[in-house]
Amino acid sequence: MSNPSEALYRATDLLIIGSGAAGLTLALRCADFASVTVLSKGDLKEGATFYAQGGIAAVLDDSDSIESHVEDTLIAGVDLCHRTVVEHIVAHSAEAVSWLVAQGVPFTTRNRPQGSQSVATATDAKKPAKSDSSLLSSLHLTQEGGHSHRRIIHATDATGKAVFETLHQRAQEHPSIQLLAGFTAVDVVTDKTVANGQNTCIGAYVLNQQSGKVEVIRARFVALATGGASKTYLYTTNPDGASGDGIAMAWRAGCRVGNMEFNQFHPTCLFHPHAKSFLITEALRGEGALLELPDGQPFMDRFDERRELAPRDIVARAIDHEMKRLGCDCVYLNITHKPASFIREHFPTIYQRCLGFGIDITTNRIPVVPAAHYTCGGVVTNTQGETDIHNLYAVGETSFSGLHGANRMASNSLLECFVVAFGAAQSIQNRLSQTPLVDHIAAWDESRVTGSDDEVLVSHDWDEIRRFMWDFVGIVRSTKRLQRASSRISLIREEVRDYYIQHKVTNDNLELRNLALVSELIIRCALRRAESRGLHFTLDYPNKLSTAKDTILIP
Ligand code: FAD
Ligand code: SIN
Repeated sequence: MSNPSEALYRATDLLIIGSGAAGLTLALRCADFASVTVLSKGDLKEGATFYAQGGIAAVLDDSDSIESHVEDTLIAGVDLCHRTVVEHIVAHSAEAVSWLVAQGVPFTTRNRPQGSQSVATATDAKKPAKSDSSLLSSLHLTQEGGHSHRRIIHATDATGKAVFETLHQRAQEHPSIQLLAGFTAVDVVTDKTVANGQNTCIGAYVLNQQSGKVEVIRARFVALATGGASKTYLYTTNPDGASGDGIAMAWRAGCRVGNMEFNQFHPTCLFHPHAKSFLITEALRGEGALLELPDGQPFMDRFDERRELAPRDIVARAIDHEMKRLGCDCVYLNITHKPASFIREHFPTIYQRCLGFGIDITTNRIPVVPAAHYTCGGVVTNTQGETDIHNLYAVGETSFSGLHGANRMASNSLLECFVVAFGAAQSIQNRLSQTPLVDHIAAWDESRVTGSDDEVLVSHDWDEIRRFMWDFVGIVRSTKRLQRASSRISLIREEVRDYYIQHKVTNDNLELRNLALVSELIIRCALRRAESRGLHFTLDYPNKLSTAKDTILIP
């Protein structure tokens, strides 16, 4: 490298921020007609995708129908899903699975539950497996909450790992895709002078964690595929990076953000002092596991006729209610009535992980608690991932496409990542020839900042936010609790802003800045909703209003 300053500039047709299911799908769909750069702030696998367990919802069985999947999604979303979006995404579910099979994702087949006996493996994925209808109909379908049919395809209980590893391998092989780990996007860059006065995205500022320098990446298109914001809560199933960066960047750039009050709590996260964020898949309940109180009594029949397979908001609230009523630390999931061989075959990851903590799930009940799991709201987009800013896209969990309404149905999230990424790729291809690369973006200015010298300020704010979000903006809310959270977050945001303008950026202070902003957006949305609907339950307005309306915040 002749001149070190040259390294601070890069250029690409499409910059994708995030290397999960949404980012890698978009990259692979665009790489044959555009140069693509994919960033991840941590290791490339460190998004939620890698940890996904249950599977991907898709209509593949003759006894199932698109109408039924649509209806189930609308019911779980409590009248707030956008019907046309649901119809679009569900109608493309078989196409998405077909594409994944063609990439070589090793899904479990009907008579062969073990990953090793599945359709294709990531290692033989060099030659993509043939995808035809007989192959699709051979996939094993499991059951999850809210679904009236068995329609979840999966790779045993480690679906996300199988998807990530296959798509990652494909992306590595593609000559037009550059994968960069350890690069944290700071902000996207917009300009109103390049496209007839339209606010247009032209690139991004990105922290190279190794050099500590902020680089400029010029791009014709930028896509935010940064995942969700569940790290705003003290207890979560999500990996550490789920700090809502894409939502915060889009908001700062001028995009609308919607329905942030609907943060989904997964009912069953392993409760163990040494288990950090380990999910116990809903597919366990789909295959017959029962929720029990410490004394062994099942309790879901008192809350919903669908019992263990009611939508997640209902199950999580029931567990929360019982834990508070009895003052117990957890409830239990019991699958010991199933044959041990069945459990080990279908749930090898969970079996091994629990065994590591001394819990043999073939003979012992699993202690579980609810934990923050999924951000249903996000950056407002259409089904092509287009945002309010020209040439800026948002795909996957960071977006609010209208699919999930007030409560996401299980396994609809990965499906959304694939189908919206397909749409975004189409939109980018259509626009490519009329979209020039801008020739200059000003360098990042750090002439007036110093090194970060008091990291305890960052770690303290981080902990404080996550604690009060859990206590005041959690499964059961009230106006008083939300107002308390609102005054706390205003104070913290001021402190964070001061710290940010005085210090060099680091991954930690960037995440804190985003976490604080996104928490504020969640609280603002929650305060606006004067009713209880789906995941937003407040003691002050326990009933649902007759008309369902999105909560849209305008920057
Ligand atoms: P992610 O996979 O979260 O990827 C985000 C990417 O963005 C990462 O690469 C991250 O490093 C990067 N990133 C973030 N911020 C920045 C930044 N500032 N700069 C650079 N890079 C950045 N859904 C289902 O449909 N089925 C399931 O079975 C299922 N199981 C789940 C199990 C668990 C434990 C969890 C946590 C979630 C599960 N979900 C499931 C939800 C689903 O996995 C996620 O919604 C989905 O994987 C999100 O994909 P994504 O591509 O949008 O983001
Ligand atoms: C699970 O496996 O329970 C998670 C599925 C999902 O979040 O969609």
